[in-house]
Amino acid sequence: MAKSNKSWLHRQEKDPYAKQARASHYRSRAAYKLSEIDKKDKLFRNVQTVVDVGASPGSWSQYASEQLGPQGKIVAVDILPMEPVDKVLFIEGDFTEDEVVQACMSGLNGARADLVLSDIAPNLSGVRSSDQARSMYLAELVLSFSDEVLSPGGDILVKLFQGEGTDQFKKELANRFQKVMVRKPQASRDSSREFYVLARGYQV
Ligand SMILES: C[S@@+](CC[C@H](N)C(=O)[O-])C[C@H]1O[C@@H](n2cnc3c(N)ncnc32)[C@H](O)[C@@H]1O
Repeated sequence: MAKSNKSWLHRQEKDPYAKQARASHYRSRAAYKLSEIDKKDKLFRNVQTVVDVGASPGSWSQYASEQLGPQGKIVAVDILPMEPVDKVLFIEGDFTEDEVVQACMSGLNGARADLVLSDIAPNLSGVRSSDQARSMYLAELVLSFSDEVLSPGGDILVKLFQGEGTDQFKKELANRFQKVMVRKPQASRDSSREFYVLARGYQV
């Protein structure tokens, strides 16, 4: 077995969140990042319609589905397939393609989203500058999509990676939302450059 695979396996075995996920119904340890942020920020209060961008294998959709009432609805999108989740309309496709973004909008069926979640992350090439540019490009796409679908007062939670472009992105959020906050849940590994930005109170 390659050395990097061995160390990944070792880390997974030791990781309490991966252990917890294996023992629970959640498909990925990522669920604990969302639940931690939710416990602090009450993301799902008065929320009926959610969009989950970069949703596969589906633990954020699972968690969101559990927080919504019976009328709740989630539109989830990923380039990879995803097993069904209650209350979720899943669209399989590349979010950088216009027709996929349009399909997400149609999936909302005329409703506005109260909350847009994005855990989308590009496949890493290992070249830090181009990975960073691709990740910021995806974040910008999520933001322009949110401009089209968010209800007034709605919120967005988006994953970013420390590096070029994140300060500018936070400024763009501050121009549109009442409040912009940074979150680094404990379930997000210290060694990872990822963090989340929560912007609340979309102002049209
Ligand atoms: C960290 S994973 C998401 C995990 C998910 N939140 C969960 O809880 O199961 C990031 C996802 O982004 C997706 N992704 C990356 N680029 C994409 C693109 N261009 N269009 C759609 N999905 C994309 C990947 O396929 C991957 O499933």
